[in-house]
Amino acid sequence: MNANPFAAEPQAVAQVRAFAGAQGLPAIHIAADEGRFLMLLVRLLRAQRVLELGTLGGYSAAWMALGLAPGGRVHTVEGEPRHATLARQALQAARLHDRVTVHQGTAQTLLPSLAQLAPWDLVFIDADKQGYPAYWAWAVEHVRPGGIIAAHNATWPVVRQNLWPQVQADPRVQAHLYPSPEGLLWAVRVG
Ligand SMILES: C[S@@+](CC[C@H](N)C(=O)[O-])C[C@H]1O[C@@H](n2cnc3c(N)ncnc32)[C@H](O)[C@@H]1O
Repeated sequence: MNANPFAAEPQAVAQVRAFAGAQGLPAIHIAADEGRFLMLLVRLLRAQRVLELGTLGGYSAAWMALGLAPGGRVHTVEGEPRHATLARQALQAARLHDRVTVHQGTAQTLLPSLAQLAPWDLVFIDADKQGYPAYWAWAVEHVRPGGIIAAHNATWPVVRQNLWPQVQADPRVQAHLYPSPEGLLWAVRVG
């Protein structure tokens, strides 16, 4: 899939991508290099609790699951029932189902109950772009000190206009833009 040897997909990740593709899901998942980057962030954090908003077929969740500390879990939220069902099937086939829980429902609906699992080590946002400012604000409140918030498609105009100023003005986080074509904005909670 990718000529970058440092972004080679582990077998389980490739399996999840192939499953989703065979079921006709659009290939709007993150790129492999972004997946590897997220996996390494999860590993650096020795993360046990990772939250994702926007599952699609489980591709990014699979990457992050491979970086978890023993006993850790990725909780991923998906609004489309068909996507959630296919993601569960793909993750089961790739034997990652014991490390990933797919929650079916919108982020807006589920975030209040997911707050009970806080503090999170990492929150990855990849759902509806209009919701990013609210999701990011929630994430900053619910990651642990030293934890990470990341948002995909960060170079899209709607995200740039609505999210970047919020992040830049927030002294509780230090941010960096991973310069992939879609842009991955990530920040460490420092205060
Ligand atoms: C770009 S895809 C996610 C790709 C996935 N993170 C990956 O890289 O493998 C966005 C997903 O978010 C879901 N979605 C959009 N708005 C949502 C919302 N408000 N709550 C939960 N899921 C939502 C869509 O149905 C879609 O499956």
